[in-house]
Amino acid sequence: MIKLGVLVSGSGSNLQAIMDACVSGILKGKAEVAVVISNKKEAFGLERARRNNIPAVFVDRKDCGGPAEFCEKIKQELLKNKVGLVCLAGYLLKLETNLLGSFKIVNIHPALLPKHGGKGMYGHFVHEAVINAKEKESGATVHWVDEHYDHGNIIVQQKVSVSTDDTSETLAAKVLIVEHEIYPKAI
Ligand code: GRF
Repeated sequence: MIKLGVLVSGSGSNLQAIMDACVSGILKGKAEVAVVISNKKEAFGLERARRNNIPAVFVDRKDCGGPAEFCEKIKQELLKNKVGLVCLAGYLLKLETNLLGSFKIVNIHPALLPKHGGKGMYGHFVHEAVINAKEKESGATVHWVDEHYDHGNIIVQQKVSVSTDDTSETLAAKVLIVEHEIYPKAI
């Protein structure tokens, strides 16, 4: 049974899909969410963890001397909970080398990487870029995390079609459905 550490900055719907898969889906008996960590105190992902009796940890950047110290605190929480795989699920901060070098880490991105990824490409910015580029298809990508944003080797991708009347909201909703399918599979 592999212990997962999930990092979130927001709603945590992907976290929910992972927790559900661990309890009654594809990850049952194979993985469990051991800890959820956020840089945002009010992140709903932390509340989702608490509702599932999973340790929910807020790490405050204001208490840290810099990004390396902040990542060190996260690393200690992950070690304390014996995490074997770190899953980024809507986590918006860059990881420092002390964390990158200590764990296997995966991320989900709401587009078909290597297109429409990189610094600043998150949330509605991604879907707006896809629509502005008049792409016929978009989708979701799960990939290994390295020192660059949205850059490591791709594990799995799934496509959705983009219609001419899609807005960033309707496209985000379509992509999120496939995110929830492929993230547990990739794990
Ligand atoms: C998802 O679209 C994910 O691909 C991206 O951030 C969003 C997080 O959504 N990295 P949620 O917090 O899992 O609902």
